[in-house]
Amino acid sequence: MSQLRDRAVHPRVFRQLVIEIAVLMVPEVTASLATRLTEVETPLAITSGRRLASPLVLAPILRAGLGLAEGFHRALPEAAVAHVGLARNEETLEAETYYFNAPGDLAEAEVIVLDPMLATGGSAAAAIRKLKEAGARKLRFASLVACPEGAESMREAHPDVPLFTAALDDTLDHRGYILPGLGDAGDRTFGTM
Ligand code: PRP
Ligand code: URA
Repeated sequence: MSQLRDRAVHPRVFRQLVIEIAVLMVPEVTASLATRLTEVETPLAITSGRRLASPLVLAPILRAGLGLAEGFHRALPEAAVAHVGLARNEETLEAETYYFNAPGDLAEAEVIVLDPMLATGGSAAAAIRKLKEAGARKLRFASLVACPEGAESMREAHPDVPLFTAALDDTLDHRGYILPGLGDAGDRTFGTM
């Protein structure tokens, strides 16, 4: 996280760090997922094992969530992906939807919503609302950097959605950026500074 926050880091390294941290987060974010018993036939015997009880869907919030999704996908390669295109209007700080494409069986799925930044919480709350409207019932949210304001507004808007974050920072500045944060995650991921 210290390397990721460093303003001098090139987008090539930034993307790689996001993936590495995402992979490290997967065990914590998925530890409470329900599993079911399954029978496995090895070359020598029949034994039992466990499989996830529900299909998994990763739901990155575009654009910056794509980096996190790549890391989560490495550890969870069978997950489907729901793309949620949201952009925060920098005047009003309201999240506006420009794209939504999710698999059809959302009602059965465990959905992991991904966005590196939980700032005001508006984008996360709007993405979760869209996913619920499309049928999702079991959701969790993972970020790299959150702040108390965003965590609180998420708790109010979606108390049923557990929040996982690699870092909980101090506060928001007057433009809605997380302090100390890491700046604009989308710009730093895609080199659009
Ligand atoms: C950033 C970030 C989150 C959102 C967080 O996205 O990736 O989605 O802001 O802010 P909030 O909690 O106050 O809603 P942005 O809208 O800048 O789009 P981008 O990912 O395309 O850069
Ligand atoms: N979006 C970002 O990318 N960074 C912030 O600090 C806040 C919102």
